[in-house]
Amino acid sequence: MGKLVVANWKMNKTIGEAEEFCSHFDKRAGNYMICCSATLIKPVFDCLKDRSKVGAQNICAYEEGAYTGEISAKMVKDAGADVTILGHSERRHIFNETNDDLRKKLDIANKYGLQVIFCVGETLEEHDNIESVLVNQLEILTKEDLGNLIIAYEPVWAIGTGKVATEEDILVAHKIVKDYVKRNYGNDVKVLYGGSVKPENAAEILKLNCVDGVLVGGASLDPVKFESLIKTANEVL
Ligand code: 13P
Repeated sequence: MGKLVVANWKMNKTIGEAEEFCSHFDKRAGNYMICCSATLIKPVFDCLKDRSKVGAQNICAYEEGAYTGEISAKMVKDAGADVTILGHSERRHIFNETNDDLRKKLDIANKYGLQVIFCVGETLEEHDNIESVLVNQLEILTKEDLGNLIIAYEPVWAIGTGKVATEEDILVAHKIVKDYVKRNYGNDVKVLYGGSVKPENAAEILKLNCVDGVLVGGASLDPVKFESLIKTANEVL
């Protein structure tokens, strides 16, 4: 099956562009998921149905009702999403999403059976205190969340900057996450690495035993690059 490659398209692509991208993956098998904007979930789902899971990038902390501008877990599920990213650093830092917000979102995701890709990561200033920063982000998880949860370690300083964490950085961070989850919940958890992953550096990252896959922003927008990442992830085992 290979390691997992998850596209995070962020706020990119029209419906036409998403369909054009998906047409490259018509008959391609591979262990990948595409997390896209809410308007793209249904078209991506319709194109890739049996070949890949489609995911949202966020859900509302509330179930339904008077929350103008928000999109619920039930809605993304209805459009075809099986997965949602939660706690991406852009949500935490640009939209001030807190641990309390994320706890509510995890509850709603669990209620609607959405798999969660839960993002953690430290800023450059926090790098020296990486363990306490990651533990603070992980502390909101419960045993119930961990049944089907994937964690993505994304150092904030490596997102969209071209700076990739070193092998040592990745080993340290993934060990902190995996040990914390094992110690506190008794579970093994899959941990993805994210931050400036591209075809040129993917093999180096994916060959690390502690890396169960990658969460990819910029390079996931291009079908040729994305396909190359899937191929690499499939070959490293
Ligand atoms: P880039 O791959 O563009 O650095 O983005 C990483 C990311 O934020 C994925 O969620």
